[in-house]
Amino acid sequence: MDTADGAFETGVVYRDDNLARLATFPAACVDLIYLDPPFFSGRSHGTFADSWAGGLADYVAWMEPRLRELHRVLRPTGSIFLHCDWHAGHRLRVLLDRVFGAGPAHFRNAVVWHYGGRGAKAVSGQLPRNHDVLLWYSKGRGWTYHRQYTEHLLTEAQARRSGYRVDESGRWFTTAPRGDYTDDSIAALEREGRIHRTRTGKVRVKYFLEPRGRLLVERRLVGDVWSDIPDAMHLPAEERLGYPTQKPLALLRRVIETAGNPGDVVLDPCCGCGTAVAAAHQTGRRWVGIDVSPAAVALMRRRLAALGVAGRFVDAATQDDGPAGPHRNGATNRGASSVSAGST
Ligand SMILES: C[S@@+](CC[C@H](N)C(=O)[O-])C[C@H]1O[C@@H](n2cnc3c(N)ncnc32)[C@H](O)[C@@H]1O
Repeated sequence: MDTADGAFETGVVYRDDNLARLATFPAACVDLIYLDPPFFSGRSHGTFADSWAGGLADYVAWMEPRLRELHRVLRPTGSIFLHCDWHAGHRLRVLLDRVFGAGPAHFRNAVVWHYGGRGAKAVSGQLPRNHDVLLWYSKGRGWTYHRQYTEHLLTEAQARRSGYRVDESGRWFTTAPRGDYTDDSIAALEREGRIHRTRTGKVRVKYFLEPRGRLLVERRLVGDVWSDIPDAMHLPAEERLGYPTQKPLALLRRVIETAGNPGDVVLDPCCGCGTAVAAAHQTGRRWVGIDVSPAAVALMRRRLAALGVAGRFVDAATQDDGPAGPHRNGATNRGASSVSAGST
């Protein structure tokens, strides 16, 4: 939505159909989109129904214009993460190829969110299903990618068993092939003491363990299988809001920190109880949320108020707007601001 000065307003939650609302946004006004739509599950979730009289064709016909609008509102350097599962993920990937473009210019990853086998239900005749997929596409060149790491604590004995060695200065290290490091990068690493030459003269890059108390910290590069984030059933009580399809904050933080920068505008056009909005706020991003469900928006009001973020709430039916409730007076308005559309 444009403001009077032509800037795109952030810090707003719209209770509206996302297609209608997106059509009011200017082109190229957001940096990162997280979209967690109905999955074509055939179920009713209480606050929203996910059943499609015309089957998959009906579902795809619902998704396509929304993805086209999302493509339009994304900046050229922006990315979209589309959260899906086995029900329609195969069709959504084809659709994204059509809307965003196929191949390495646009398709970045199909991230497997393996949310755990602990609660995996046995299914007769087949393996239990225990992952979702996040399809990551970038719109154009210059997209953002920040490597993510997980930390693992090792004893010295575990480090030794995992192949780590101690160098002449007493630091624990392992090595890996140089991969796609350029000669300049290798020279820079050499100056930092991070190059190891094998007896046959091969260059390998050293990775160190950081001591922490009596333990050693191993940082592992996060790949395209995320197994360290449990599903919403295992969320801490204070994070659980009772929204039927709530996603974990840690998942949204991972998405936002992987493909975005502080100050970016994050859009969630199916924002449910506001997980992406809360994660965007916590990581210093601006945000805009849309959801058609009054129950979702009511929860979001409470969630944002608890975070001390007012934002602005606009209801398509009543055009009612106002800061987050129910404690309107106590809330600060750190969420709301505006941003020029179209710049990159
Ligand atoms: C899977 S849930 C999103 C859950 C969310 N990621 C969270 O963590 O709470 C899908 C959401 O899409 C919303 N939705 C369905 N159709 C919509 C539409 N046409 N416009 C906007 N939101 C819609 C539903 O109300 C529901 O909240």
